[in-house]
Amino acid sequence: MLEAKEISWFQGQKTILHKVNFQLSAGECVGLIGPNGSGKSSLLKILAFLEPPTSGQLFFQGNPMPATVPLAIRRRIAIVFQESLLLNTKVFDNVALGLKIRGLPNKKIREQVDFWLEQFGVAHLSKQSARSLSGGEAQRVSLARAFAIEPDILFLDEPFSALDAPTKEALRGDLAKVFKSTKTTTVIVSHDFKDILHLTKRALILLNGKAVREGSPAQLLKEKHNEEVDRFLSHFSA
Ligand SMILES: Nc1ncnc2c1ncn2[C@@H]1O[C@H](COP(=O)(O)OP(=O)(O)OP(=O)(O)O)[C@@H](O)[C@H]1O
Ligand SMILES: [Mg+2]
Repeated sequence: MLEAKEISWFQGQKTILHKVNFQLSAGECVGLIGPNGSGKSSLLKILAFLEPPTSGQLFFQGNPMPATVPLAIRRRIAIVFQESLLLNTKVFDNVALGLKIRGLPNKKIREQVDFWLEQFGVAHLSKQSARSLSGGEAQRVSLARAFAIEPDILFLDEPFSALDAPTKEALRGDLAKVFKSTKTTTVIVSHDFKDILHLTKRALILLNGKAVREGSPAQLLKEKHNEEVDRFLSHFSA
């Protein structure tokens, strides 16, 4: 579905990403993990075609992507950030917007919005103003909005990090169920290894802008690596 070959990203004098290779197959959910500032969000933005890499090549469904990726392709991608970026309209309209842009008929839009609000347990909030939602509700609506467009690839950048533990666990469980039924191709960034263990079968560790390890999350935790990787993983094994 998506391949990144030797992706580097420089800003000024700074190397933010250094020759990162990454593959994502259809139906897969892959985790990205690493300490603050390791380049996770930067990599996600490049993989989601929001930012062109300085060097390296991206392939989408086998085709090499130009620096400016065509809108028709960018529209096949959905992103959810840590802080939900909902518009100051009703919940329903927030979820409907992407479908309107894509030219779906009104009846189909209504069905699709109702279905996804239901999937994430927020159908009762449909008529409420999005700005008045709690953090947990807003993230549920953001996920409903992302899934509603039935993206080819979904990118989640720390979608739970602003939520308290019980809210997060409940949403993570609901998301796992949705993944199981939709098989949406996804990349999820989290600084919590529990999320990665729960939701993915493969994860990539980023340290200082480099992809240093890749494998099954459980295996990554179990194995011995070099000192740098072991130091990072030691925070999660206790
Ligand atoms: N547009 C930019 N210009 C300059 N530096 C940038 C830019 N975007 C990111 N950086 C730098 O790149 C590094 C990686 O940032 P990034 O946001 O990708 O890290 P992260 O792994 O997502 O961190 P966190 O866990 O805190 O979200 C940081 O040092 C950041 O300051
Ligand atoms: Mg980040």
